[in-house]
Amino acid sequence: MIRARGFLKKIQPYQPGKPIEEVARQLNLKGEIIKLASNENPLGASPLALQAIGKAAKEAYLYPDDNCFYFRKKLAAKLGLDPENIFVGNGSVEILPLATLAYLDPELSAVCSESAFIWFKIAVRIAAGELIEIPMKNYTHDLKGMLEAIKKNTRLVYIANPNNPTGTIVTREGVEEFFRKVPDHVLVIMDEAYYEYIDDPRYPDSFKIFKDRKNFLILRTFSKIYGLAGVRLGYGIAHKEIIGDLSKLRISFNVNRLSQIAGTAALDDDQHVRRGKDVNDAGKEFLYEAYRKLGLFYLPTYTNFIYVDFARDSQAIFEALQRKGIITRPIKEYGFPHALRITIGTDEQNHKLIRALKSVL
Ligand SMILES: Cc1ncc(COP(=O)(O)O)c(C=O)c1O
Repeated sequence: MIRARGFLKKIQPYQPGKPIEEVARQLNLKGEIIKLASNENPLGASPLALQAIGKAAKEAYLYPDDNCFYFRKKLAAKLGLDPENIFVGNGSVEILPLATLAYLDPELSAVCSESAFIWFKIAVRIAAGELIEIPMKNYTHDLKGMLEAIKKNTRLVYIANPNNPTGTIVTREGVEEFFRKVPDHVLVIMDEAYYEYIDDPRYPDSFKIFKDRKNFLILRTFSKIYGLAGVRLGYGIAHKEIIGDLSKLRISFNVNRLSQIAGTAALDDDQHVRRGKDVNDAGKEFLYEAYRKLGLFYLPTYTNFIYVDFARDSQAIFEALQRKGIITRPIKEYGFPHALRITIGTDEQNHKLIRALKSVL
């Protein structure tokens, strides 16, 4: 009999938001289904990216550029960085297990919040390292508590800023204070998947920290505001040595040809980014008001989703909404059995959601 290695027993595979096709099939739904479960851009993909994919589709028989040269060059120029400081991933999530495997082993430990983005924990389990989980304070990472939890054998700290599924941020002040104290041998991974949605001056300037500190890895993605979740494209920003370590662990051609081309084109699509942010900001205000009127507790968000608390097991509400063709995301595994994480949609989708919620509640 084939026996898997012991550490696999501790790994619970990630459960993504349900795909539209699966819900249609399982519930035999014929009408339109709205997916508000995975924080995709409700406006769709960047039109410039789509055009570029269309043109490049005939090159699908060619292997991609293994180094993502043109994409990295353009991204680096846009961000004011050196291409050597950029690692490109098949989605930003790909980079989490790579970075974790590079620096963690069964004798070493890693710190994250109890209700942090679940992939942090999966990555630690893949490396069979010790996971130290710190309770959040007021739905926000407790940076002081995380700092105090760092032990001699700690090599990694994960911070999603904003966090998924709470949508909360740690502030510039808190992060700067954290970095004044965090030991140099601990790599801090700052996941900024929703960075483009934020214009609050209290949000940390992670590039400033990156310029001063070598123990820092910033993660960003094209899955959210650029609307390219389906092509899988994300990146990490770090010092050259770290990029070199990650590169040793990745498979060849980890980023496919069409993703590179789509991302390169999307970088010019400021209009799509602006529209995505405007629609999100307007949707946020509408939904805050609607949730307030429904008497529901919600967390003000820095992202394109909202944590909504129903003060009772949310599974039945999730299922009832699903039968009405609206897919949301239960977040029981994050320690929130009463809440749902619901993506901010287009104006029309948000209205449909609230109508459905009213009838369900
Ligand atoms: C905090 C956080 N990081 C990363 C991701 C996934 O990014 P990607 O699609 O680039 O793998 C998500 C997606 O929901 C997220 O919420």
